[in-house]
Amino acid sequence: MIISIGCDHIVTDLKNHIIEYLEAKGHKIIDNGTYDHIRTHYPIYGKKTADKVASGEADLGIVICGTGVGITTSAAKVKGIRAALVRDITTAKYAKEELNANIIGVGGRICGVGLIENIIDEFLESKYKENFENDKIIEKIDQIVEDDSQVGDEEFFAEFIEKWENGYYPKK
Ligand code: RB5
Repeated sequence: MIISIGCDHIVTDLKNHIIEYLEAKGHKIIDNGTYDHIRTHYPIYGKKTADKVASGEADLGIVICGTGVGITTSAAKVKGIRAALVRDITTAKYAKEELNANIIGVGGRICGVGLIENIIDEFLESKYKENFENDKIIEKIDQIVEDDSQVGDEEFFAEFIEKWENGYYPKK
């Protein structure tokens, strides 16, 4: 399977561990960053990760930040993406089986590494239960996002990053 993955600076080491974990299982990984511990912003990596899934370049995606909330919410804004923030195995299974989630989000400061590995395994191994009701619900969810002009736009965050570098946003 080809898996797109992204994180913010809070959980870079965890993301690197997950990449090794998945590569050892034979998966091909697209690592969208971030690649170090320098303060950055989770929407950048949520979108990059989601774009690869929405375009078909990757089969599924994984996003990780401190709580998982910010990066999963960002990924879910991309057309064609159904991103689920989970912190247990049952929800990971539900997200794939019933909603055909194509991105799973976890909080690296919320869940332990072992649980995150198990959540990801469950998400990758579960199969979507295709039936009319599920198909229609998903169709409705997908219809919420009508404007796809930002999909694949590499410059989408350019102005934001420039403002950040020029001190427009307060540093935490
Ligand atoms: C740090 O930016 C932190 O807010 C982030 O990792 C995440 O917890 C957001 O949901």
